[in-house]
Amino acid sequence: MKKPRVWVTRRIPQRGLDLISPYAEVDLWEGELPPPYDVILEKVRGIEGLLCLLTDRIDERVMDTAGPSLRVISQFAVGYDNIDISAATARKIPVGNTPGVLTDATADFTWALLMAAARRVIEGDRYVRSGQWRTWGPTFLLGADIAHSTLGIIGFGRIGQAVARRARGFEMRVLYFDPQRHPALEKEIGASYAILEEVLHEADFISIHTPLTPETYHLISDAQFALMKSGAILINTARGSIVDPQALYRALSTHRIAAAALDVTEPEPIPPDSPLLSLENLLITPHIASASIHSRTRMAEMAAENLLAGLRGERLPNCVNPEVYQFTQE
Ligand code: DGY
Repeated sequence: MKKPRVWVTRRIPQRGLDLISPYAEVDLWEGELPPPYDVILEKVRGIEGLLCLLTDRIDERVMDTAGPSLRVISQFAVGYDNIDISAATARKIPVGNTPGVLTDATADFTWALLMAAARRVIEGDRYVRSGQWRTWGPTFLLGADIAHSTLGIIGFGRIGQAVARRARGFEMRVLYFDPQRHPALEKEIGASYAILEEVLHEADFISIHTPLTPETYHLISDAQFALMKSGAILINTARGSIVDPQALYRALSTHRIAAAALDVTEPEPIPPDSPLLSLENLLITPHIASASIHSRTRMAEMAAENLLAGLRGERLPNCVNPEVYQFTQE
């Protein structure tokens, strides 16, 4: 029997490709950079399955160009703001993602950023490498205390909760804001619910863990920076567009807040001439919070499992638009 045709938009860990290839004819985009939009349009014609990345814009036009043969879209990520989910649902195409398996890696990395920004690790490294280290100094590179401070979490899903759990070791007070309250977890984790304004006002460290949606686009802008403490440190490992980059520049360059640490930016990648890159009190990494060997291997497995289930006409193990199955039963 002829194998279904799938397009994989970038080389993912081999384990995922090995799971797919016995059952599908795989066309793999080998480019180091994401396929341009016109290449996506060309490649999707007549495919039955699409395995894509957060760097690929998958909109109505892509789905219509693929045509009625497209049975599944499998995203190699937990976030899926690059995919037009309502367009997929309207076409009865299930969309899969990879929740859970990158929670610890992302929470660990959030803490790496928090600690590096608080204790000025990168500045210290630059100082040594540039040959400026002459002596030990009593007031040199002083940073913020982490233990016993207040951590504010915006978005209390899996990753926000995992970040909060790690704060216990530092005996921190943890406040969270989420559209939904989680009373059982409050007790278990030792976190208290607060409205967004209170979190921004009270926290020494503010860490963002909400998905990017129309409601969270530029959620943190001038008005929100105005509420923060002057010593506050903002950490974003979620999506760049949750923070207004121009407002962030104003807040950091005027020392309205002490520092920021970003793993995600708007746009991505950040242009090399962005004014943000001239700031000493900003630490930036290239969207690598989930980049641990175990997480990325599990993400590849889950993306493959979603893809294969969709090709077989089975329910995806992790589906972001389960409404598509209601249509099927009607
Ligand atoms: C995700 O899975 O959404 C992450 O941003 C990838 O690192």
